Amino acid sequence: MTSKIPLSDVQAAHAAAGSTAIQRLTLARPDDWHLHLRDGAVLHSVVADSARQFGRAIIMPNLKPPVLTTADAQAYRDRILRALQAVGLSAGDFQPLMTLYLTDNTPADEILRAKDSGLVHGVKLYPAGATTHSDAGVTDLLGHCRAALDAMQRCGMPLLVHGEVTDPAIDLFDREAVFIDQVMRPLRQAYPALKVVFEHLTTAEGVAYVRQAEGPVAATITAHHLLYNRNALFQGGLRPHWYCLPVLKRERHRLALLDAATSGDARFFLGTDSAPHPRGAKEQDCGCAGCYTARHAMALYATAFESVGRLDRLESFASLNGPAFYGLPVNQGTLTLVRSPEVIPATLPLAGEELVPLAAGESLDWRVQD
Ligand code: NCD
Ligand code: ZN
Repeated sequence: MTSKIPLSDVQAAHAAAGSTAIQRLTLARPDDWHLHLRDGAVLHSVVADSARQFGRAIIMPNLKPPVLTTADAQAYRDRILRALQAVGLSAGDFQPLMTLYLTDNTPADEILRAKDSGLVHGVKLYPAGATTHSDAGVTDLLGHCRAALDAMQRCGMPLLVHGEVTDPAIDLFDREAVFIDQVMRPLRQAYPALKVVFEHLTTAEGVAYVRQAEGPVAATITAHHLLYNRNALFQGGLRPHWYCLPVLKRERHRLALLDAATSGDARFFLGTDSAPHPRGAKEQDCGCAGCYTARHAMALYATAFESVGRLDRLESFASLNGPAFYGLPVNQGTLTLVRSPEVIPATLPLAGEELVPLAAGESLDWRVQD
């Protein structure tokens, strides 16, 4: 597979390898351990896409302004529940697992309040300036956040890490690997019992680190990093809808991620990082980072797993490993994927505007059974 992979080619390659094509696949209802739902009208536009497939999702806190306190998280959760209600759903169908946005000033007692609320399941580290809406992020983790990190380690609150350094002198494609040495290793040396999720892992170095690390470390992997390498960004011209952070990497990294996700190793689990931006915000002289994958998430992951003949491992990645790490029960219901072609629409409605989903116009072999 090279460049921007027409999804049909992924399936064709697998079929040519002589596998007996499975026609349907039923899994324990999966969860999305990294999701951007935004707020207001955008939230209302996107929430049903995730709720249709997933039982729960870890909701990213990078709103403007960010979700800084337990009270903010509670209010945001109420808005998500109202958006679910508006499409005829409830927390029984889709449970938003809230997070706080770590800053240089997050106090220890805010962490304890978050833990006591039972609604907050993680605290997100955005290195300041690393990605969309990260201006309020952390400038020096071990310099400024020790009180919060101590409290998190003590009460078992996971730290969810955007693992990229922001130093402009470091090549964009090396920022995850450099983060491991400059931040992750010192952090985990200082807080060996802290639960850490290395979010949206993108490199072979990241995979190697998570595999061998001692203690409570795990990683989420997106569908787009399993399906595409960095050539997708430049296929026949500049492709803003393939631009996300951390950016797509070389093919060898994609293969390392695919190997990790399909290995059965419980440290790796599903996190779409689906991040809606209106079309105009991406198609401009300084376009936003973020790929929208929520609508077809499970079909995209099934495509990736099938490409290496490992559909049998999709359930552990999508439905079992995440709850085990977060200390939550596996969802009660199931989700069934059926082999039935579906074309990803060219655009989807987004709060009076439109968004372009990842792989728009391409055909998937799988769809979620209604
Ligand atoms: C995310 C967003 O748009 O909020 N963008 C992205 O490229 N993934 C932020 C993030 O998770 O880095
Ligand atoms: Zn994200």
